[in-house]
Amino acid sequence: MKKITLILAASLAFKLISWNAYDNFIAFPPTDKLSDLLISLGDEKPTHYRENPTAELIERGRALVHNGKAIGPDGKMGPFISKYFACTSCHNQVQEDPIITKFDPQARLDYAAENDLKFLPATTFWGIYNRESWYNDDYILKYGDLVVPASKSLEESTQLCAKVCSSGRYLEDWELEAILTYYESIQLTINDLDLTESDREVMRSDAPNEEKLALIKSKYATKSPATFPKAPENKIAGYAGLIGNPANGKKIYELSCQACHQDGGVSPILLDDAKLTFKKFKNNFNKNGDWNIYDIILHGTYADKGKPRYMPLYPEERMSPQQIEDLRAYIVQEAR
Ligand code: HEC
Ligand code: HEC
Repeated sequence: MKKITLILAASLAFKLISWNAYDNFIAFPPTDKLSDLLISLGDEKPTHYRENPTAELIERGRALVHNGKAIGPDGKMGPFISKYFACTSCHNQVQEDPIITKFDPQARLDYAAENDLKFLPATTFWGIYNRESWYNDDYILKYGDLVVPASKSLEESTQLCAKVCSSGRYLEDWELEAILTYYESIQLTINDLDLTESDREVMRSDAPNEEKLALIKSKYATKSPATFPKAPENKIAGYAGLIGNPANGKKIYELSCQACHQDGGVSPILLDDAKLTFKKFKNNFNKNGDWNIYDIILHGTYADKGKPRYMPLYPEERMSPQQIEDLRAYIVQEAR
């Protein structure tokens, strides 16, 4: 009797396992990495595709991105990439948009507040491996011809950012190799795509691969768009028709501005919670220059003023005109 129960239990367990296997490993490839699914459907391997991500390379890349330097293959600690920044000063390393096909800065701000993330001018490295173009759209206005090779290559855009955005230097081959392998380790997985039951049916069907590829590619962002917003026509009045919400502005001040402008942050300019600091912003609504919130947010500062430490600008997808008005309303409230 016992034997029969055992056999029954074993066969039930087998059924469950193989049903699961059918859903995940036969309809989908035997791994849950997005890049491997795409390649199995006939997509070309990108040049940044890394065949053998080893734990050692991933860790070396992680250290370079988080600490700005790492122990190289020769066993010695390499020099800093930048004296001023780590990649994490400007780029998050985890999911930052609650819906990964939408670039909604307010949804991202709420998500940052809930998940203890910074609200930063540049995009996350999570899923950067799965994008197909970089430094998109209006970045050509800022970096000119430099973005032409960068927009087509993750390797080139990594080098551009290490040298120019970080006010640093070009990476050695071993450093670039480690960072690309680290990106690979934080690429999207099939689970991140939120496939519906009907999507799964298409994936299990004998529909042509092109159709399956198009379906999968509609489920995540193949690029991070960037539109440089226009300043309000009248900076003293602000953006016409938008009314600022100071509570939302407080979140922006704390999760974004103070991410860099705090004690020990990447900028020596302290933006604290003192009335005087808010007054300085308020007194500059009618002046052009770095302390005018529209100028600083829309243009950042430039590294070429003899100060290699600079502030990146925020594209509209990273901070909306409404959010700038929210920040302004918070400044006005705190300056009182
Ligand atoms: C001072 C801020 C800053 C620092 C530091 C920085 N970056 Fe960036 N990075 C940016 C901005 C701004 C962009 C513009 C595109 C975007 O990400 O929105 C960018 C873009 C990129 C892109 C292209 C992303 C895309 O999808 O368009 C890569 C790759 C990149 N950086 C790698 C790095 C690496 C690697 C480091 C560290 C060695 C680094 N960055 C440090 C600000 C920075
Ligand atoms: C990624 C880091 C970073 C973020 C985020 C950031 N800043 Fe900056 N900011 C800097 C750096 C670096 C400088 C240049 C400091 C220097 O000149 O040494 C700067 C310069 C400034 C200046 C010019 C100060 C001066 O006297 O020259 C102002 C004002 C300023 N930031 C305000 C803001 C505000 C407001 C926000 C939020 C909307 C913000 N910053 C977000 C890094 C950042």
